[in-house]
Amino acid sequence: MSFSRRSALRLTLASLSAAVLGSNTAASASGTRIIRLSKVKVGGSHAFTLANGRPALLFRTKTGVFAYQTECTHNGGLVEYLAAGKLMVCPVHNASFDPFASGKVVKGPDGFAASTIRSLPSIKVKIAGAWIVTG
Ligand code: FES
Repeated sequence: MSFSRRSALRLTLASLSAAVLGSNTAASASGTRIIRLSKVKVGGSHAFTLANGRPALLFRTKTGVFAYQTECTHNGGLVEYLAAGKLMVCPVHNASFDPFASGKVVKGPDGFAASTIRSLPSIKVKIAGAWIVTG
């Protein structure tokens, strides 16, 4: 095989590899794919892990999607969503947050006022075609 034919073959293989890998990667131009939109019903939620390893929870409503990091702003407990009360609650010292009001503190840790801790950090998410993505 001549050098030019070998170079042409390498270029073709590289292009094919890029095309195949590009269609299977989680990242896209509009952000990192979290989950297919069809997998989260309106009124539902989905736990996921951020690129930095931190836990997060996204919500889908009639108007769109939003998400929060789920490490408690008091002392790092893993906040859980309790659908019955529509609150995100930390099981460590019972602080609670309202996911439908920007993650604001509803109740502070046991024995402390709500004003002693911060709201849950929000995570930018959006719908991009058939996916919910970061960004
Ligand atoms: S760690 Fe969450 S309330 Fe203390």
